[in-house]
Amino acid sequence: MRVEQLTNALGAELVGVKLADAIHDDGLFAEIRANLVKHRVLFLRDQDISRAEHVSFARRFGELEDHPVAGSDPEHPGLVRIYKSPDQPNDRYENSWHSDATWREAPPFGAVLRCVECPPVGGDTMWANMVLAYENLPAHVKEQIADLRARHSIEASFGAAMPIEKRHALKAQYPDAEHPVVRTHPDTGEKILFVNAFTTHFTNFHTPARVRFGQDANPGASELLRYLISQAYIPEHQVRWRWKPNSIAIWDNRSTQHYAVMDYPPCHRKMDRAGIVGDRPY
Ligand code: SIN
Repeated sequence: MRVEQLTNALGAELVGVKLADAIHDDGLFAEIRANLVKHRVLFLRDQDISRAEHVSFARRFGELEDHPVAGSDPEHPGLVRIYKSPDQPNDRYENSWHSDATWREAPPFGAVLRCVECPPVGGDTMWANMVLAYENLPAHVKEQIADLRARHSIEASFGAAMPIEKRHALKAQYPDAEHPVVRTHPDTGEKILFVNAFTTHFTNFHTPARVRFGQDANPGASELLRYLISQAYIPEHQVRWRWKPNSIAIWDNRSTQHYAVMDYPPCHRKMDRAGIVGDRPY
């Protein structure tokens, strides 16, 4: 297996490896997992695997989870279908920087995404390294956010376009989650900047140490949150991947964010995503 680093921020292409072999080969799987922790997102071309093999490979990392809004393949639970077609040109849900499902108490460990069909040009996906984003913050900001916590909401994201009753039912089933703004990587101990498009507000900002009067309502809190969220937008923190059918990306959802670029005219883009259950952030 050859490992070709793609940018100085994150991302490596694995060359000369068949993912299907890693379903049964413990040594190969361990090598892939170690590279995932090191490079945060791995890419492979020409992986002509079945949906069952896709699921079996992803299951090596842990249990899979479905998505309450995006539908899964009925024959392969855990395989979420992210399918865009000319019939739904206004469905732009993927078009924001995010870590998957941080509105869960235990957001995913990661995901294995296979391209089934893609536009001839466009529809790339970008990833950002949120360990690097944390490291690059000014010292006074690191100090300011050290103990902050924030709310993450499916209601305000996937629920926003729903009729009110459906939105409230979604929230009742998936109440907002609260996570540290700076989480620790369970494998490496690195600090990770952990706010994204699902984050609505800080939950412990409004303290006497920060706010002089009640009327001072959270001075700077929303600006600070916007600033932190915008760190994923910095090109020096990113890698960009161009899809072909049977290309695969495997990412560490704890330490990265991603953005599916909606720059293609209405046409088909079909991706199968196996999301792997993760841990509660600390
Ligand atoms: C995702 O947001 O999980 C999928 C990204 C993509 O479709 O490229």
